[in-house]
This record gives sequence, C-alpha cells and structure tokens, in this order.
Amino acid sequence: MRKQIVAGNWKMNNDLEASKSLVKKIVKGLKKEKLKNTRVIVAPTFVSLAKVANKAKGTKVEVAAQNMHFEKSGAFTGEVSAEMLKSVGVKIVILGHSERREYFGETDAMLAKKVDAALANNMEIIFCFGEVLEERKANKHFDVVESQIRNGLFHLEASAWDSIILAYEPVWAIGTGETASPEQAQEMHAFIRKIVADEFNDDIAENVSILYGGSVNPGNAKEIFSKEDVDGGLIGGAALNAENFITLAKSF
Ligand code: PGA
Repeated sequence: MRKQIVAGNWKMNNDLEASKSLVKKIVKGLKKEKLKNTRVIVAPTFVSLAKVANKAKGTKVEVAAQNMHFEKSGAFTGEVSAEMLKSVGVKIVILGHSERREYFGETDAMLAKKVDAALANNMEIIFCFGEVLEERKANKHFDVVESQIRNGLFHLEASAWDSIILAYEPVWAIGTGETASPEQAQEMHAFIRKIVADEFNDDIAENVSILYGGSVNPGNAKEIFSKEDVDGGLIGGAALNAENFITLAKSF
C-alpha cells in the first residue's frame, strides 16, 4: 500500500533557533499519534538541516533538503551536494520546485541530473512539477505536467521508483491562498498515475505517492487528501506553524 505523506517545505523561513523550536514542537505533538501509514517530513534551509536532522532522529519526523547540486564537490560556489546532505543525516531531497525552476533557472535537463545524483546516493526524491495559470487557461496543463515528469524521471530504471515521491503543485495555487479544487487535483493525479503506468507498469504507478501542493491548510486538507489518487501534501505556509502542521499530518 502506498504511503500517505505530509511534507513541510519551510522555504527561506526560520533561522536556526526558529527551526529547532519548530521541529521540537512537531516531534512533541506527534509523539503519541498513531499516524497509520503516514510519513511526516520537514524541509528546513541548509543552515538548519544538520541540527534539525539531529533533533528528528529516532522520531516520527523525517528531514529533507529543499535542493541540491548534481556534482559531488568542486568549484560550484553556493551549492551543496548529495554527499554533503547525507553526511548530516539527510536522505530526502525536494527537486524541481517551481520556485527553483522560475527564480533559479532550473531546467528539466538539470533536474534529470540532480535526480540521478540523488539516486546514486540512495536518497529519496520529492519531485515537483506543475503548470502556470496561463497554461491551465490554455488547457495545456496535462501536456506541461507530462513533459516535466517525462524529462525529469522517465529515463529512470523501474527499480528507481521506490525512491520517488511525486508532487503536483499548480504554480497558480502556491502561496496564493487559491487551491486547486479536490476534483482538479484528483483529475491531474489520476492522469499522472496513468502516464507512469503506461511508461513503466501498474505496480509502480499504484505504489508511487503523489502529493498535492498549493495553499493546503488545516481547513481544506481533509477534503483534498480524501481523493483517491491524492496521497498527501507538500505544504508551504501552513507548515511554518507547528499546530497547523500537526493537524495536517492527522488529516487522512
Ligand atoms: P504553499 O506552498 O502551501 O504556501 O502554497 C506550497 C509549496 O510551494 O510547496
């Protein structure tokens, strides 16, 4: 049975103290919860990763990085490698977030290399994709999503899919307070599962978790997560508050 996942993308928020305090509250709040078949992940900034990973060790909370470079080491000022993430106990990385694509020029080709580097280091990947508003209005959203997934992930061996988590994030819903309707999310997630099944097989498609992201909050999560092909959420704003995030983790 595929896992349900709630992942908090802290983006460029929280200094070291705030990050430690937030993870501490989340760990504490989830301690007594059953969380059947549910994984809880938080993604702080690079400067807080080591400390947050340390605090989360042995708890129900897992820690992810928000990005990484595809090279091992070298003259890449400002970048961090998979090896470095692993050295601080981080085994999950978010790749292809629309903010990385839009503001930092990340292309499908770069992302495919990052995917390979993460997998070579036995890391799990939360792979993000999603259309912008103009593309949805022009009814191109299925094509855009398919091409982002195809270019980033369809070169992989079938066995690699154990390490892939998909995150559909319509760009028009990120940080805007406007969510895709549960029906729109379900429609896209079912489409995604179908293209994975067609390219690989039914087993892989059935087992891959597909998260929805874009203005998920404690008020709308239950309905979105109840959709058949929605296996959880990648959460930005609402993940910065421990109480909200804990509620989200219990929304299945
Ligand atoms: P949001 O961000 O929940 O603040 O819309 C989601 C994301 O970018 O992952």
